[in-house]
Amino acid sequence: MYFVANWKMFGNLKSINTLDKVIKFSKSKEIKKGRLIYCPPYTLITSFFKKFKNCLIDIGAQNCHESNDYGSYTGFINSRMLKSIGANYVILGHSENRKKGETDKLINQKIKSAIKAKLKVIFCIGETLREKKRGKTKPILSKQIRLGLDKINKKSNIMIAYEPVWSIGTGNIPKPKELEQTVEFIKKKFRGKLPKILYGGSVNPQNISNLKNINNLDGFLIGGASQNSKKFIDIVKKTFN
Ligand code: 13P
Repeated sequence: MYFVANWKMFGNLKSINTLDKVIKFSKSKEIKKGRLIYCPPYTLITSFFKKFKNCLIDIGAQNCHESNDYGSYTGFINSRMLKSIGANYVILGHSENRKKGETDKLINQKIKSAIKAKLKVIFCIGETLREKKRGKTKPILSKQIRLGLDKINKKSNIMIAYEPVWSIGTGNIPKPKELEQTVEFIKKKFRGKLPKILYGGSVNPQNISNLKNINNLDGFLIGGASQNSKKFIDIVKKTFN
């Protein structure tokens, strides 16, 4: 099971100290089959990398530019740069970036560049509340998968994170049955080797018991609760208990 911490635009150098608890936990037996990945803001990737050097916690970024080449793109960072400072993962297609104008086509280009740089991709998909209410969840997910993964043959380094937009930061989570059906629907889109599927959206220590037994779910992408080490550890512990 994967537990991915997406810190979004939070954290500073002082936050590094809060990771001691998680590092200790990651070396204990309690971690069981949990794999931890932290995706801090770009500014903290190097500090996190150093902090985790003696443990198995992995590092990722929250986005990257679509070009593999260096270039005159003020303010951007590409996947090669991320790989060179120790990131192994990158979150792409997050709804907070789609909202800012990232199209499926751009996300597709970013995924291709990340794979080329040997980063593993956490590819986010999800419907808005309006789309859900109109019964459009399945066509929306299909479209995001089809366009986002267009002309990508080798999908072994891609995980899908199903994050319903209406669930992010709201405290609302899908009903277990509904989530199970959606995960099943996503899996069916893939032939051969199935991708790992994560769920994201308001995951916390209180609701993890409703989410942990969903069939075919390989882990969680956790926003708010992941910034608090105790909550993050509790989510992992409760998943296995
Ligand atoms: P929250 O866990 O804060 O709802 O955020 C989910 C998310 O967007 C993770 O990528």
